Amino acid sequence: MGNTYYIETYGCQMNVSDSELVSNQLEKIGYISSNKIENADLIFLNTCSIREKAEETVHNRLDSLHYLKKNNPKLIIGVIGCMAQNLKNDLLESKPYVDVILGPDSYRNIPKIISNRENVMNHIVDTRLSKYEVYDDMFPSRREGVNAWVSIMRGCDKFCTFCIVPFTRGRERSRSINSIIKEVKHAVSDGFVEITLLGQNVNSYLTPDGDFVTLIEEVAKVDGVKRVRYTSPHPQDITESLLIAMRKYDNICNYIHLPLQSGSNRILKNMNRTYTREQYLDLVKMIRYYMPDCSISTDIIVGFPGETEDEFNDTLDLVKKVKFDFSYTFKFSSRPGTKASQYTNQIDENIRQNRLERLITIQNKIRLEVNKARIGSIQKVLIEKESKKSDLFWSGRTEGNIWTIVKKGDEKLKDIIDVVINDAQGITLFGENLNNKGKIS
Ligand code: 5AD
Ligand code: SF4
Repeated sequence: MGNTYYIETYGCQMNVSDSELVSNQLEKIGYISSNKIENADLIFLNTCSIREKAEETVHNRLDSLHYLKKNNPKLIIGVIGCMAQNLKNDLLESKPYVDVILGPDSYRNIPKIISNRENVMNHIVDTRLSKYEVYDDMFPSRREGVNAWVSIMRGCDKFCTFCIVPFTRGRERSRSINSIIKEVKHAVSDGFVEITLLGQNVNSYLTPDGDFVTLIEEVAKVDGVKRVRYTSPHPQDITESLLIAMRKYDNICNYIHLPLQSGSNRILKNMNRTYTREQYLDLVKMIRYYMPDCSISTDIIVGFPGETEDEFNDTLDLVKKVKFDFSYTFKFSSRPGTKASQYTNQIDENIRQNRLERLITIQNKIRLEVNKARIGSIQKVLIEKESKKSDLFWSGRTEGNIWTIVKKGDEKLKDIIDVVINDAQGITLFGENLNNKGKIS
């Protein structure tokens, strides 16, 4: 039997996509994927540093994996991704049983590193960041599914003052259009019908052959691509021409994840977000002008250093004005090394928690309202799986990324069908299948 590997992925979609690349690198040297961590000969945790909690989870997980080495002394335990980059010295000191530490730009060397590690029993650490690495010629090992994550750029040059990403993932660099299109075609021939273009700052994509608009149009034109999504953009880089392209191509979803972070101009400035609340609202207006039915979701941080009650209320006010379809909400978490971690006016944990809860309550109400407003509308739903509740129903997502339950007709998995929405509960929509009414009664 060959050696087996198990990768556990934490954090953002970029890590999910990186884990697929790493899987492929391991398979190149004969490793086989294992679905049981206890049986694996190599365990990688692909880690996240974005908030303190994410790091704590990985520390605890590593402590709980230590014992597996007793049964399998040859077991290789590795920490890869953002924490490897950020905390290598700390990890080497506090967790001597971690054998391999690799930053996000070191995955190309995995076959060499792991082949060496099997012979040399000391730590291997490689966390050099590269200005150029985009893994252009490396392809991911994807499991079966509907959506393929396709990484188009890496790194971030925006330096929001709260964010660790520019330090853990380094400078912005974009992958060539040719290589991206090659990967998209590959994914389609493997049965994937939805492509999500990924990057820390996806719409600052730029190559000599074109910008993000050129790229997304090229992707939309590939035969067999039923849906194109992208995440995450920065509001500063959303252009009118991008919105025009989104409107023009039916298969580019009318959905934008538009991280807001705060509704207060003073806090936005201290965050170095490069836009004001007025500019953000104008952008939302422009999006809705070009795509009246466009869903918009967001990221919001509460309790940024110095945030007053009035400034938090500015965020609530903006949330009410925009009526986001969905929002990912976070308490500010101080990340050592970032500018915001040095600000002296950090906000008390109780206040951060209280603001988070108030924001979530309001956003949940808005989300239900927005979903209820869809009752009676026709939505295009991509069928992704059988509903968990009943095998007579499908579960799929609308263009706006909302899970929808619909009675089965004669369509197949991965088909897009028209659905009239007739109910909204929690975060889910329910509808009538216009493709085949009442085939199963
Ligand atoms: N504390 C809390 N949330 C953060 N995010 C990024 N850095 C921090 C931090 N230090 C959030 C932002 C970003 C999302 C991916 O994570 O909202 O958009
Ligand atoms: Fe972090 Fe800001 Fe870059 Fe997003 S744009 S990865 S929040 S620094």
